[in-house]
Parts: sequence; structure tokens; C-alpha cells
Amino acid sequence: MEKKAVTFASVLQNPIYKNRDVLYALLPPTGLLHRTEQKNELIMELAPILMNSAVSCVFVYGNPGTGKTAVITELMEELAEEAKKRNVKLLKAYVNCSENRTETTILVDVLSQLNPGKTYPRIGWTRSKAVAEFAKTLNDIKTNIIMVLDEVDYALKESGDDIIYRLSRINDSVQSKVSTLLISNDVRVADYIKPRTQSTLGRVKVIFSPYTSEELTDILKDRVKNAFNKDVVSEQVVQKIAEIEASRGGDARKALELLDSCAKISISKNTNKVTLDLVDEADKLLEKDTIFTLVATLTKHQKLLYLAMVQSNSNELDGGKVYKMYSEVCEKQNVQPLSIRSIRTFLVNFSELGLIKSEVTWLRNLRKKSRTIELNIDAATRKKLRKVIRDSI
Ligand SMILES: Nc1ncnc2c1ncn2[C@@H]1O[C@H](COP(=O)(O)OP(=O)(O)OP(=O)(O)O)[C@@H](O)[C@H]1O
Ligand SMILES: [Mg+2]
Repeated sequence: MEKKAVTFASVLQNPIYKNRDVLYALLPPTGLLHRTEQKNELIMELAPILMNSAVSCVFVYGNPGTGKTAVITELMEELAEEAKKRNVKLLKAYVNCSENRTETTILVDVLSQLNPGKTYPRIGWTRSKAVAEFAKTLNDIKTNIIMVLDEVDYALKESGDDIIYRLSRINDSVQSKVSTLLISNDVRVADYIKPRTQSTLGRVKVIFSPYTSEELTDILKDRVKNAFNKDVVSEQVVQKIAEIEASRGGDARKALELLDSCAKISISKNTNKVTLDLVDEADKLLEKDTIFTLVATLTKHQKLLYLAMVQSNSNELDGGKVYKMYSEVCEKQNVQPLSIRSIRTFLVNFSELGLIKSEVTWLRNLRKKSRTIELNIDAATRKKLRKVIRDSI
């Protein structure tokens, strides 16, 4: 049977989605579900900050997609709000350590958040310069600080535990009160921490367990209400997705992606309902999703280059700046960048693979002014690509 043709108009007219972005929002409009126990524990641990007292490192563990980043993001907002109400001085900094894998780039990232008015060089600081500047800033601002180091296992594997050791002792030597929250999805994170650091760390650990199928059902149902039009997604579809993902590791992110994939197939079939029979098909589709399979085959430096490109939120990149963006990503990942010549060759490869859209003739020298490289990736795919690439470097 010949396939039915879809057009942009038919896709846009399709009454399936109400607001697709809701599926990928870190904090859904109706709040997070089923994490009261973890939230309670964290609130008990962090409350002393509101009494102007520093909290030693608190560890948060859990498998991917179990809501660590989401819960902590929500909690940081609540903490800041409460501090404001009580006139407690508080600054917060959040660093993703799969993006920033060295002590230097982590500290520079924190500094730029503590001091938004000041511009810090994105490249080229030595570790001692960053450490000295960090101490100086903490002494100048004299305030309570909460630092979240998310996906900290990447930094530990890449550059050792010096950063944690320093932070665990920082309150002995500066006039600000620094509290640290460490998030890891590798439960063996302790293996990367030397005994001298372990003994200075707090002993508090908050565990995020995988979601059960009942919990995933609730999480999905809640998003369905805001992301899809009424009666588009049946209860059985939600339950089946929840069961599949609960059996695989209880990852809420994957469950939401599978739901989105079901919707995509329904639209391509020009139907206005997401039916039960689509779930298995959608599951297979995700497995062979071309852009992710393609990206997985790239070499390390090609991945770093592509990561630099998808990290910018624009679909049009200034060709002349791509090399600089790539070098910045390398510095953050603790990798020596390749020459501009290799990067041009990679761009030509990307164009041939369809990862970017630009004329090959021009990519060969990147010199002509005002030429842009086109990407054309939607926000949700971009977000997933960043994660997939960072996890695979
Ligand atoms: N309890 C929840 N209620 C609603 N949505 C949730 C919940 N937990 C996770 N999600 C959603 O699932 C996705 C993944 O969550 P999150 O990014 O917090 O996971 P994570 O534990 O930080 O994963 P990773 O270890 O991969 O960083 C997010 O889109 C988030 O909004
Ligand atoms: Mg996370």
C-alpha cells in the first residue's frame, strides 16, 4: 500500500498536541510527583542555610531520569524564595559537570553565576588563577552560597576529587558560608573519591530510586493533560509505556520520550488518536532514530564539535565562530583541541551526512564573511542530543 503523504499543513493541523514543550519541561506546570520523601530529606538537610550556617557536602544519587535535577532545581527555587522572605543573603550556583569537567572550568562557571556583572574569560585560566579568584570573591561577597554540582561523577572521573576536597574545607578559609550539593547518577561515585576527601565529606546521602510503573503512570498522566488535547492519549497507552519503562530502569525521561514518539507516529499516519498498537512501533522507532544513531558513530572530536553546535540555541551559526565554540567545549572537557583544518574537514563530513546544511565549497575555508551554518533541530531534540553526546564522550 502506498504511504499517505504528509504535508507541513497536515502536521500542524493535526489535533494531537496541545503543547508539546510540556513533555520536555524540566518542571512541569503542575509540579513534580512522588518525590516527597527525597524532598523532605533534602529540606531537613538544607534548612540550616536559612539560619546562616553552612551545610557540608550532601550527596544525591540515582539512576538516569529519576528526577534528581528536576527536584533539586525546584528545591533551589524554594530555598531562594524563603531566604528572600527572611532577609537571609543567599546566592546560588548550578554547574553541570558533564559540561564542565575540570576544577578550573567549574570554578569559572560558578564565579560567573555569583558575579553576573563581571565577564570571565571562557578559556585559558590556570587552576591556581581560578582558585585564587574564587577565594577572593567569596571573601568579598560575604554571604551564604549554595552550590549544586550536577553529574559530578564526570568531573571526578576526568580530573580527580580535588574540587570536592577543596569545597569540603572551604569554610575554614573564607568569609562566605558555602554549602554544596553533589548529584551523581553513578552509585559507585565513592570509588572516585580518595579517603582523605571522604573523611571531610558529610555523610548524608539521599537516594532517588527508579520509578515504579504506578509512579510513571501518574507522571505521564499529569503531562498528558497539558501536552495533548483531550481524549487523544488513552489510559491504556500510558499504562503500557509506564510498564515498559519501569521494567527497564524506571526512567521518567525515557517514558516521556516514548510517549512523544507514539504521538509522532500517529501524526505521520494522519490519525488523531494515539492508540495502543503504536507503542511497540514507537519503541522500535526510537531505537533507530537516525540522528542519534548517526551521532553515535562520530569520533570523539567530531562529537565535541557537534556538541558545541547544538549547545547554542540558534539554528543559524556564524561559520567564523564555530572553531572558537569548539575550542571552548574542549577546554571544559579537558581535551586538547584539534587544528582548524581538521574542524573544516569535519564540517564538510557533517554536511555530507546531513547533520548540517551548508554549501561544502564554503565550509572548506570558513573564511567568507557573514555565512551561516544551518542546523534545523527542534528544542527537544537539541536537549536530548546534548545529553546523549555528553554521556558518550
Ligand atoms: N517526579 C517527577 N514528576 C514529574 N516529572 C518528572 C519527575 N521525575 C522526573 N521527571 C521528568 O523526567 C525527566 C528527567 O528528569 P531529571 O532530568 O530530573 O532526571 P535526572 O535524575 O537528573 O537524570 P540524569 O541522571 O540523567 O541527569 C525530566 O523531564 C523531568 O521533568
Ligand atoms: Mg540530571
